[in-house]
Amino acid sequence: MRTLTLLNLKGGVGKTSSTHHLSGALTLGHGLRVLVVDADPQASLTQGWWGPSATMDLDPKQTITSILAGDMPSPSMVIHETGIPGLSLLPGAEAAGWYNDSRPLESPREARETIREFLAEVRDDFDLVLIDCPPNLYGCSFAALAASDWIIVPVQPEDYGSQGIAKVLNSLDAVRAEGYDVQLLGYLLTMVQPRRALHRAYEERLRSAYGTLVFDARFPELPEFPEAIAARKLIQTYKPKGAAAKATKAVADELLARIAGTHGRVEEGTEVAA
Ligand SMILES: Nc1ncnc2c1ncn2[C@@H]1O[C@H](COP(=O)(O)OP(=O)(O)OP(=O)(O)O)[C@@H](O)[C@H]1O
Ligand SMILES: [Mg+2]
Repeated sequence: MRTLTLLNLKGGVGKTSSTHHLSGALTLGHGLRVLVVDADPQASLTQGWWGPSATMDLDPKQTITSILAGDMPSPSMVIHETGIPGLSLLPGAEAAGWYNDSRPLESPREARETIREFLAEVRDDFDLVLIDCPPNLYGCSFAALAASDWIIVPVQPEDYGSQGIAKVLNSLDAVRAEGYDVQLLGYLLTMVQPRRALHRAYEERLRSAYGTLVFDARFPELPEFPEAIAARKLIQTYKPKGAAAKATKAVADELLARIAGTHGRVEEGTEVAA
């Protein structure tokens, strides 16, 4: 099992949308057993599956709240089926906000390792875990990173200052300094409008600054992404042949290649043109 957190301390950059649709491409396209974890007290990811009122009605014992509280719930209590074979959801809840401590470094180590400990219990049940985080590095995101092998940083090509990214890198350093071996898998461009000069310029700048750390594949801005969520679907089931599903597949493929360490490598036996 590999665990991957999507985090940017900036809000509204597409963390939840990317987590949601990628989980579908990884399950349906690659046959992986995927668990999505909603570590954001806004619970947007969970609402994407079940809608706002069903999400509100969840008993905190059936959500990540129970894990963050240190109750060590049984997996069957908090891991729910999504209706897509192979794809499970560990829902978020507003009540989890109580554990989103703004000073995670000052909280006891056990409090930071609740998600890590829980995931160790289900290690054999999943191939990949994707964790969606709130836009801050308080208790919830810290616990997510402490449980993760990798982090992906979704970036919207509009934030001209590199401040957003610098903040994530500082946070990553803070988590690593505590002894957690979480690696940066890459920056993932989201909501890209290739026709906009501003977006092209930003993308160029990002690629020249961070090189191969920037995913080649990216999420274009397309109405189908939010439409699919509004229909309580994955892009792969909403419009499986459309451009949005294709783009999502490309990101999922690259994500797996990056994890396997094969991304950008010339295939063995492939002739390289001189
Ligand atoms: N590729 C896309 N094309 C069109 N709309 C998108 C795309 N990605 C995200 N959106 C929309 O942009 C808005 C913000 O996206 P999302 O909720 O995923 O961001 P977030 O980073 O998770 O936000 P927060 O920081 O509040 O958790 C949502 O309305 C979402 O549906
Ligand atoms: Mg979100």
